[in-house]
Amino acid sequence: MYKLRADTSDDWVDCVLREFDAFLVDHAACERKAGAAAEHYAVRYHDKPQLIDTTLTLAEDELAHFHKVFRWLRRRGLQLGPDRREPYVNELLEEAHSSGQRRLLDRLLIGSVTEYRGCERFALLARHLPESEVEPADELAEFYRQLAADDSRHRTMYFELAHHYFDASHVEERLDMWLDTEAAVLESLPLEPRLFSGVG
Ligand SMILES: [Fe+2]
Ligand SMILES: [Fe+2]
Repeated sequence: MYKLRADTSDDWVDCVLREFDAFLVDHAACERKAGAAAEHYAVRYHDKPQLIDTTLTLAEDELAHFHKVFRWLRRRGLQLGPDRREPYVNELLEEAHSSGQRRLLDRLLIGSVTEYRGCERFALLARHLPESEVEPADELAEFYRQLAADDSRHRTMYFELAHHYFDASHVEERLDMWLDTEAAVLESLPLEPRLFSGVG
């Protein structure tokens, strides 16, 4: 498996744990958008059964995540936020090919890389929540540990789909570009209490 090219810093962890409620509202929106993106493959690529089968599983997982984060919001007396632009994903999509098979490969690799980033950040939260002021720290840490495990699996599912539909050299070449692009996009974004804010 490949590696991301920018590490999230402790500053991101501190920022999120300091404004955890704001983070949670953004996190809910990210789960909803991840589900919608996964579901969209069934509309756009209706002639690819393997792709649809896997992405519907992903969509189900993301909907379940969205529901769980929504329940955390309710427990904390919070509501979902209005629909907001997601600069990280939008900037990645701007670099993708606009049509055809090349767009499919780009979408699958963006899917894999963004799931990997989610996995990295959820694991950081799981590790640092127990020493934070956020309550209930242990229960939230377990929740984020589970999400990190799920996103690690999702990263692999998107990556294997890319290998199912495209030859390995083509996947590697394009992945190399996406890893550089993802690191550059994160470095260009401000540090905020959001899942996909700058690396800090
Ligand atoms: Fe998720
Ligand atoms: Fe995911």
